[in-house]
Amino acid sequence: MCGIVGYVGFRDVSDFLLEGLHRLEYRGYDSAGIAVMSGDEIVVRKRAGRVGELSQFVKDNPVKGKIGIGHTRWATHGATTDENSHPHYGGNGEVAIVHNGVIENYDSLRRKLQQLGYVFKSQTDTEVIAHMIAHHLAEQMKLEESEPSVESCLRAVNLTIDRLKGTFGLCVLFRDCPDTVIAARSGSPLVIGVGKDEYFLASDASPLIGYTKDVVYLADNEVVVLQPTGMKIAHRTTGSVRPSIQTLDQVSADIDLGDYPHYMLKEIFEQPTTIENALRGRLDEEEATAVFGGLNITAQQLRTIDRVVLTACGTSWHAGLVGEYLLEEFARIPTEVEYASELRYRNPPMGDRTLVFSITQSGETADTLAAMRECKRKGHPTLSICNVVGSTIAREADGGIYLHAGPEIGVASTKAFTSQVTVLTLLALFLGRMRHLSYPAGKRIIKQLKAMPEKIEEALKCHDRIQEIAAKYCGFDNFLYLGRLYNFPVALEGALKLKEISYVHAEGYPAAEMKHGPIALVDEKTPSFFIVPRGGIQPKVISNMEEVKARKGAVIAVACEGDEEVARIADDVVFVPDVEEYLQPLVCAIPLQLFSYHVALMRGCNVDRPRNLAKSVTVE
Ligand code: AGP
Ligand code: GLU
Repeated sequence: MCGIVGYVGFRDVSDFLLEGLHRLEYRGYDSAGIAVMSGDEIVVRKRAGRVGELSQFVKDNPVKGKIGIGHTRWATHGATTDENSHPHYGGNGEVAIVHNGVIENYDSLRRKLQQLGYVFKSQTDTEVIAHMIAHHLAEQMKLEESEPSVESCLRAVNLTIDRLKGTFGLCVLFRDCPDTVIAARSGSPLVIGVGKDEYFLASDASPLIGYTKDVVYLADNEVVVLQPTGMKIAHRTTGSVRPSIQTLDQVSADIDLGDYPHYMLKEIFEQPTTIENALRGRLDEEEATAVFGGLNITAQQLRTIDRVVLTACGTSWHAGLVGEYLLEEFARIPTEVEYASELRYRNPPMGDRTLVFSITQSGETADTLAAMRECKRKGHPTLSICNVVGSTIAREADGGIYLHAGPEIGVASTKAFTSQVTVLTLLALFLGRMRHLSYPAGKRIIKQLKAMPEKIEEALKCHDRIQEIAAKYCGFDNFLYLGRLYNFPVALEGALKLKEISYVHAEGYPAAEMKHGPIALVDEKTPSFFIVPRGGIQPKVISNMEEVKARKGAVIAVACEGDEEVARIADDVVFVPDVEEYLQPLVCAIPLQLFSYHVALMRGCNVDRPRNLAKSVTVE
């Protein structure tokens, strides 16, 4: 977790670093800091709290320079204090580093360094890296009896990395090599922006937007030396690497808030467009199927697949659950959804005709990446459904499907969820049409998919009504979210949204499971959200609503436009357009996203930066 930035060149580095940290703040916001080469010293400014507080601190205590590094932290080791904020000095200020990741053997390294006389100022795992680089540099200087050179700095970094266990993205400044930044990666992402006489570094491409379109994604085990005059990348075992420069196609508007008060609201309202983008160019009306450009797997191979495993975390896992229902219904391929954090350490029997899909917005989630690597190691074809272009999972998968949803900045995932569900519907159509799904059935699915952006637009009209409902219920501390079949994952997702941004306890359940336990929670203080659009088993869900009412529980229903019966039973109802059952998750998710947004606002929570969370969970 955390965001890293770095710069070498001719600009005033503090401005770039602070702006970059603002853009990366979604990755962590426990504290922030920068280190700048200023004269013959490395000057650090750091603060617990948000990047905004650091910006004010730097404004009051300016620091000038053209080479620097920065960090916005999601704490793993050590409280969220000024001292534990990055950058950390090594030695007596000879180096300064920022780190993304976890050093698992930090405790033994720390003790060794303390024995050597190094004094630790923080409780972080990171500080050992800083002192160890300083130590190796000092050792070399003793041997060589000379001033540090770029080569000796690089050697000190490599010798240090040799001793680290865990994950890291690192950026290092050297007091005695003042025109150099060295960065290294093992498990945590880093992207280099290539300019003219300047180079940028960041955990993802967002800080580079508006500065350069030429980027190089650093691979695991690569180390880069950046100077205004050039960059050199080397793999730690195979040596010099010729950089593969790629073009960034994001523009500033993608990351601007526009007229919206929060990214979450902006992203909720972008969904008609993002769903359209997920469908664009992927519908083959002639053949009544879907087409994908980057699966890198032949139709023959796909025909032999007899099982699909979808692996993901959080909201992406919920989308996977919808995917399971879709793939089994349309393609009739046995499908399982696995929590990536479990799959990475489990050893379930998986035949050699099992296809593995990782579903991830960020493409950087550590558990999902590890699960994918484990499946790949066992020889399974691994594909990804991913939003962030060039992310680690997108690059390491054998092939995949991009969401094209644009940057999702609010920590609570909204548009990525509906895009994932859209792509999974396309996938089910595609695999279905290779097997059992008829031409007319394929045609019908395409027709309905094409109508979805408009249906989402209609669903968004519930905004005012949801605000009223949120005002009525925002004081409650416990909620149940209940739905069946395709709407069971929607219930889970609705509950997760409320938990993560409103800090309100909510449980999602298949509506009929309620009577096997959770119904004991129902009383006048525990409202239940029922996702109850029209469909085959709607009468059963209506009975579940009655069961809650009979126990004095308030019922809020998400129902199809004009459904009088549901409206009569529920205490409050919000209407969404009537769509086929397999598309209901797309429309039904909308009121639940809006509800959690408004409850969070009404409870005074930070909607885009909820406590304890970060957008990309790049640690275990
Ligand atoms: C969603 O609102 C959460 N912030 C979280 O559950 C998220 O979906 C999860 O961490 C997975 O992220 P990914 O899709 O980037 O892999
Ligand atoms: N483990 C380090 C810390 O707790 C870095 C965490 C991060 O990636 O932000 O400070």
